[in-house]
Amino acid sequence: MSTSKQRKVIITKSTAGTQRLGREIARQLRPGDLVCLSGDLGAGKTCLVQGIARGLQVKDYVNSPTFKIINEYKGKMPVYHFDLYRLAGLTDLSSLGYEEYFYGQGVSLVEWAEKIIPYLPKQYLQVELRRVNEQTRKIILTDWRKKK
Ligand SMILES: Nc1ncnc2c1ncn2[C@@H]1O[C@H](COP(=O)(O)OP(=O)(O)O)[C@@H](O)[C@H]1O
Ligand SMILES: [Mg+2]
Repeated sequence: MSTSKQRKVIITKSTAGTQRLGREIARQLRPGDLVCLSGDLGAGKTCLVQGIARGLQVKDYVNSPTFKIINEYKGKMPVYHFDLYRLAGLTDLSSLGYEEYFYGQGVSLVEWAEKIIPYLPKQYLQVELRRVNEQTRKIILTDWRKKK
């Protein structure tokens, strides 16, 4: 088994542009897939999640779960939106039963996934968002795939 890594860099120039990219990403997602999002507050993680959720046919409005660490949505498959910003520690994480989500039949979208790197499955799409200026974001996609 080896690991392959594919990297793509995209610049978006508006909120709508990042949401559009989210919808494109959604087309490649299958049940059980995991997308890890990292980047500072305001980088656009939730914005991208909104696009992905829309692309997965989620009808509800998706926003950052302020008091909850996870929100579940119904789309063409279950969509689990995590925001680990307030995650206090790993006890918190295991009490969520995160494995049921990561290894289940839905798609998991995880903001601040860098806080739980040791607990991530080996295969996931990593999305790094960087604020260039008010309207511009640099978005780096890295597809981590285990090859058999
Ligand atoms: N190109 C862009 N992509 C994403 N968001 C943008 C962009 N330009 C401006 N914004 C704004 O930046 C903010 C991003 O917020 P949000 O998605 O909640 O970030 P995060 O979840 O990373 O904290 C929103 O107010 C959004 O309208
Ligand atoms: Mg957010």
